[in-house]
Amino acid sequence: MVYDFPGKENRIFERLKYSMNVQWYPGHMTKAKRQMQEDIKLIDLIIELVDARVPLSSRNPDIDELGKNKARLILLNKADLADERQNEAWKAYFQEKGFFVVKVDSRNGAGMKAIQSVIQEACKEKTERDRRRGIKNRPIRAMVVGIPNVGKSTFINTFAGKACAKTGNKPGVTKGKQWIRLNKGVELLDTPGILWPKFEDQNVGIRLAYVGSIKDDILNMEELALGLIDYLRVKYPGVLAARCQISEEGTAVEVLAAIAKARGCLKKGEELDYAKASSILFEEFRSGKLGRITLEWCGEA
Ligand code: G4P
Repeated sequence: MVYDFPGKENRIFERLKYSMNVQWYPGHMTKAKRQMQEDIKLIDLIIELVDARVPLSSRNPDIDELGKNKARLILLNKADLADERQNEAWKAYFQEKGFFVVKVDSRNGAGMKAIQSVIQEACKEKTERDRRRGIKNRPIRAMVVGIPNVGKSTFINTFAGKACAKTGNKPGVTKGKQWIRLNKGVELLDTPGILWPKFEDQNVGIRLAYVGSIKDDILNMEELALGLIDYLRVKYPGVLAARCQISEEGTAVEVLAAIAKARGCLKKGEELDYAKASSILFEEFRSGKLGRITLEWCGEA
């Protein structure tokens, strides 16, 4: 999409690519992959976190190859921020593909109880195999994987019930293997496996930027805001109008201008501050103040 944004060069894709490459240079990816291959040997179950607002863009299907022969559980994390109808649709979508799926909000703990029984169910074959071999009570070993910022550390902290994993994104940090012993015979590797986003697809990059999983500082937030405005007007009509008391009619630039006016985003000389309006829009979207919004609709993405 090309926007008629006044005075701004449309370099969004180049910036996105640059930003993703800074965060994920090839050496980094190779190292993460090698680490994951080693860790996967030690476990029975892969707990893969995806962002419920962008369930496909926040996945890297390489994990399917890396994790073949392992039990698989997908957590639709940040489900509190995503559209509930879409959460249900995506749950069914992944279940159909053979994954066990639970919707969770790692920040407040919703969905955590359900996970325990789903883990037992997902690892039934292993438990059965152990039983036949006369092995009793060998704990299920699991590891958490996901792309940066999807909520891995938050999940581990909440699920384990104590602050045993540092929150924050520190890709590439290697530590000695530590297992977090959970009740009901489950052990969790304390360091999550870090997956890398799929760089090839521009839409993936843009959606990850919308949800805040790509560093903002070198992105053109105004351009991104225009894209988000267009998406919201089509998929969630009335949301912006209700939140900002503005009209959603006109070009995306006009809507951003209306947001800037409504929120008093002015530079010296009464000039509208589009950058400020854009960052307010993203803050409100990412924190859920605009409501529960899914950026990839099941069956359409
Ligand atoms: P990572 O290890 O996968 O890189 O992700 P991390 O746990 O650091 O989480 C990234 C951000 O996502 C954090 O916010 C975290 O609070 C938030 N988050 C994680 N899970 C959920 C969830 O289920 N729902 C919601 N609404 N947010 C979630 P932050 O702004 O970076 O940090 P903070 O404000 O929590 O300190």
